[in-house]
Amino acid sequence: MVGSEDADFSYVESRQPGRGRRPARAFFETSLPGIDLDGPWRFRLAGGLSDVTAGFEAEDFAEGEGADGWTDLPVPALWQLQGHGTPAYTNIVYPFPVDPPRVPDENPTGEYRRVFEVPDDFPIHRGAVLRFEGVDSCFAVWLNGILLGDGKGSRLPTEFDVSGTLRPGRNVLAVRVHQWSAGSYLEDQDMWWLSGIFRSVRIIPCGIADFFIHADFDAESGAGTLRVDVSGPATLSVPELGILDADPAGPHVCPDVEPWSDETPRLYEAELAADGERILLRIGFRSVAVDDGGRILVNGKPITFRGVNRHEWHPRTGRTLDRATMLEDVLMMKRHNINAVRASHYPPHPDFLELCDTYGLWVIDECDLETHGFELVGWRGNPSDDAAWREAYLDRAERMVERDKNHPSIVMWSLGNESGVGENLAAMAKWIRNRDGSRLIHYEGDRASCAYVDVFSEMYTGPDSVRLRGQQEEPPPEDPADDAHRRRLPFMLCEYAHAMGNGPGGLREYRDLFDEYPRLAGGFVWEWIDHGIEQTAADGTTYFAYGGDFGEEVHDGNFVADGLVFPDRTPSPGLLDYKRISEPVRVLCDADARTLTIANRHHSRDTGYLAWTWRAEDDGVLVAQGVLELSPVAPGSEATVHWPELPAAKPTGERWLTISGSLRADEAWAEAGHEVTWAQARTNEPAAASPSRPAPATPARVAADSIHLGDATFDAHSGVLRSIAGIDVDGPRLDLWRAPIDNDERSLYATPLAAAWRHAGLHRMRHKTLSVEPSESGLVVRARVAAAGVDHGMDVKYRWTTAEDGTLWLTVELDPYGQWPCTLPRRGVALTLPATLDQVEWFGEGPGEAYRDTGNDARVGRFRASVAGMQTPYVRPQENGNRRAVRWAQFTPVNGATEDAADDDAVSGLEVLAAPTTNLTARPWSTRALEAAQHRSDLRPDGRIHVHLDQDQCGIGSSSCGDPLHESEQIHPAPTTFTVGFRRIAVFVGGRG
Ligand code: GAL
Repeated sequence: MVGSEDADFSYVESRQPGRGRRPARAFFETSLPGIDLDGPWRFRLAGGLSDVTAGFEAEDFAEGEGADGWTDLPVPALWQLQGHGTPAYTNIVYPFPVDPPRVPDENPTGEYRRVFEVPDDFPIHRGAVLRFEGVDSCFAVWLNGILLGDGKGSRLPTEFDVSGTLRPGRNVLAVRVHQWSAGSYLEDQDMWWLSGIFRSVRIIPCGIADFFIHADFDAESGAGTLRVDVSGPATLSVPELGILDADPAGPHVCPDVEPWSDETPRLYEAELAADGERILLRIGFRSVAVDDGGRILVNGKPITFRGVNRHEWHPRTGRTLDRATMLEDVLMMKRHNINAVRASHYPPHPDFLELCDTYGLWVIDECDLETHGFELVGWRGNPSDDAAWREAYLDRAERMVERDKNHPSIVMWSLGNESGVGENLAAMAKWIRNRDGSRLIHYEGDRASCAYVDVFSEMYTGPDSVRLRGQQEEPPPEDPADDAHRRRLPFMLCEYAHAMGNGPGGLREYRDLFDEYPRLAGGFVWEWIDHGIEQTAADGTTYFAYGGDFGEEVHDGNFVADGLVFPDRTPSPGLLDYKRISEPVRVLCDADARTLTIANRHHSRDTGYLAWTWRAEDDGVLVAQGVLELSPVAPGSEATVHWPELPAAKPTGERWLTISGSLRADEAWAEAGHEVTWAQARTNEPAAASPSRPAPATPARVAADSIHLGDATFDAHSGVLRSIAGIDVDGPRLDLWRAPIDNDERSLYATPLAAAWRHAGLHRMRHKTLSVEPSESGLVVRARVAAAGVDHGMDVKYRWTTAEDGTLWLTVELDPYGQWPCTLPRRGVALTLPATLDQVEWFGEGPGEAYRDTGNDARVGRFRASVAGMQTPYVRPQENGNRRAVRWAQFTPVNGATEDAADDDAVSGLEVLAAPTTNLTARPWSTRALEAAQHRSDLRPDGRIHVHLDQDQCGIGSSSCGDPLHESEQIHPAPTTFTVGFRRIAVFVGGRG
């Protein structure tokens, strides 16, 4: 059975896009009954072309069970995620020799068979079309043993006419799918290489072949002009607009239509009818233009993208997504103040675009094209500039535009991603412009001349350079003619703020630039989701795999995990940060003037949809709250009002006022009460010093091997604290190291920070005790902290005293010596506590993780979490979980309560105090274990709680794909002093009566 001497496999390595296919057309649902071919198919995976099953396409071919390799496989699905073959991840490099159009002999080839019935009510007399929504990467198709043709273009639809071939009753469909083909050279996107029939397959009766909705909006008059080009005779009805059984070509001028926008995604239901067929249309009126000031206008008003790049991803099914998952993406984006999505780097499932129309997101639809791997060979032989590939390029552009042309959400067509430059790209742009002049054309690769695009687009440009572009002061390109043209165009970042691992940092800086310069049309964070693949470890715990986990010969590790949401769509702290930065309505609390300014940055919506509330908290405890009645503020305007009346009693600690704007009523994308925007201000002056600071002189008492100070015990030789009131403590000691984050480990343009830190030995610093000096006023321990082989280090003085209330205060004096070659990952002390004290309550910023340049969403308050709950589960474990500006934190056992504790029932908890604030990280494993772990499942609680109290921690940045971390976000070694305190607290354990 195996082997295929006569078979024609020339299509696999042909640059041609396909044979026997029907012309591209729109995706739509018709009232005519179709045949859904999703579900189980028979399947066999051949290792390559020499191993395929001869005659598998024959109607009477009998697939056996088991032994000859035939099995069931669902369609749609990617076979590597169904137990056949293995996934492979590369970013830029092709996982095969760059020798176009050749592909390796090892070319896994899936043989698919599906026997199906054409039901009696199927209108077979009309003729029919077999439609594949997506097959990766190349395939040939037979119906009832007859070859229909072949196709490429994985994320684009392919149709074959089956009018003469389809018959009533039993039919047999056979499809041969090749993992590698000439098309693979055009599909080098940064993602997993996965194969198969991964989107739906259907048979559709012939009827209306195609239509193109032109629904223009005139912002001046408010009129809409509707014209629907239909491929044959049909009538159009839009009842709401009084259009009934009309000629679709119109034009139908409709005064006073409500335009479509991301904020008010108004769709008019319409129907096309012809010959017993009805097609539901959803029409959105809008116009897209660029004005003389280089602004992108939709419906006459400027837009700023608060966008994300979205790959299609699910941790179990890869790029096969169900509608619920697509909806989840759209709802999550809307709920996090995101207003735009770039379909990176291929046209998404058509349902996703329909959801964007419905819920309101601006879309850049991008063609399935990337040839980035040619960059690694100096762009030699890049298909983008080789006429032999012209047809393939044009075919891809055409299939994208024809499929998606009726979506109002799409405001730009993108030619593809990272495919260098060349005539074929120019030809695509020309074709698109000719076919659809109503949208802008985008291609980042044309940034030097912008010869055939409508926007000047770059990726990962640093803030300083973005500012220059905002000011239209960017360095000129070589040709002055290009310069004049380019300077007039809007500027956008199609990618920025690389969200790999912990991060991205620095979002606010970009946001401020987008605010300041009208030419800047905003940007799209890279990227929406981590493409981790769910796996189960030997002990049953799940984790997410990344590049290299499947034995790939070449791979790019965890560069595939760089999203704002984890693979299972749990928001990462980066998403919460981005939500905050992207607030469409901003509130500014002015503590001096005691006013609130509401700035409405919406495109077209007033603030009437928000309900406003306020809360006043003293040291994080609610003391008053109320509702604020604010008049609606028009888009683009601001209004200032007075603060609410606060309780008269003067707080002794910190009083914070929080204002919150939430949905007044349910919206399609979130329920009433969903918070959109907020602001906070401290309403009283900061207190001068912590009340327990003044320390009376408590002498240290020396015993055999220990020193006692108040209720604390220290090791007499090392001077290290061992216990406080019976709580077993180890530390605190100076700690400068963190488990490097991805932005520490990788840098596009400079030596990675982590390399410099390791070179300086910061990951293996040792303590050398110089002296332990008990005295009348406390204890002083001096140490030198340094690494083997280097002559720089830190002089540390730990000065311990006690206060009247029993608090044990530690002041750390730090003095770098020698020539320090690098900055510091962190500067603080670390200690460990018993694992039982795993409940944390703190007053400071929260509830989530925040670093110097992240966590814009963190607010001041009183928060509670378990130590386990304070961990951020980055796909590749790394430093995480810092809580910023903590004033105090209490570590208590489960069920512990610190109030009303009768001494008899009480056990000890430990309170950490800061003077005035500290960074707090607590975890059930050490930094060393965190650093060594490759996946989440490698981390196990080690029986202690590891607490870090940092005066400072290095910023986060985005250098894994972007500028190096700004100097100002780094910690430069310098003499410094910081103070923290510790106090036993009584904790009531168990249930209360
Ligand atoms: C860009 C590219 C993306 C992704 C990103 C880094 O250059 O367009 O596909 O690779 O870098 O994660």
